[in-house]
Amino acid sequence: MRVIIQSDPSTVGIWTARHIAEAIRMAASQNKPFILGLATGSTPIPTYAELVRMHKEEGLSFAHVTTFNMDEYVGLPQEHPESYHSFMWKNLFSHIDIPHGNVNILNGNANDLLQECANYERLIAAAGGIDLFLGGIGVDGHLAFNEPFSSLSSRTRVMNLTIDTRIVNSRFFDGDINAVPKQALTVGVATVCDARQVVLLATGYAKATALKHTVEGEVSHVWTASALQMHPDAIIVCDEPASDNLKVSTYKYFKEIETER
Ligand code: PGA
Repeated sequence: MRVIIQSDPSTVGIWTARHIAEAIRMAASQNKPFILGLATGSTPIPTYAELVRMHKEEGLSFAHVTTFNMDEYVGLPQEHPESYHSFMWKNLFSHIDIPHGNVNILNGNANDLLQECANYERLIAAAGGIDLFLGGIGVDGHLAFNEPFSSLSSRTRVMNLTIDTRIVNSRFFDGDINAVPKQALTVGVATVCDARQVVLLATGYAKATALKHTVEGEVSHVWTASALQMHPDAIIVCDEPASDNLKVSTYKYFKEIETER
């Protein structure tokens, strides 16, 4: 695992966007698109802003990129401003040259949700697996919507959201927890960990406890992001406040090793 400690959310976004852009430029081609897993939430917004800037000003193309989003609320209309469909088009897809058909987002309004989840796993496999999965982390350590005590070998499925997550996400629903859907479709921990590389973002002091458990704790279904310790190529990009609960020795180790790279 690498842990990249940046000063603030903006520099986390710049580091991550450049990393993604380099991966796309190196690997994407007409014959073999780059398969990119994507997340929603506040944390990746600076990354998406920088990717959009790179597209507009530096010619970064997404013409040969296929995306798979991590999750979507169940029962929220796609056109609702807080659906993850809306989020992705507003913050990224509308501003870049990705072909419409290359975008994959779970349909939380499918008639058969189980079938929808099974199909999503099949689509990812048919695309050749995910090259880079960009994720965030919940204050409870969730990776995608894999809430505490999710199986670390879980696959795409329907998840009941915890009260904690619904309280945290109520900030997007005018503070009304009752407006936050009770369920979501989410890729599983194993779906994320199957990606050839996982890049996990954590910014702000609210994520400091979850990050400590993810980096220094045991691999545990209590903090599902800790499964990344088993991943051969996991990168955590965090800011100083999110790193606040790491041991001084852990902090120094990653700072020094990344300076030497
Ligand atoms: P956030 O959400 O980026 O809005 O903090 C992250 C998550 O819940 O995984």
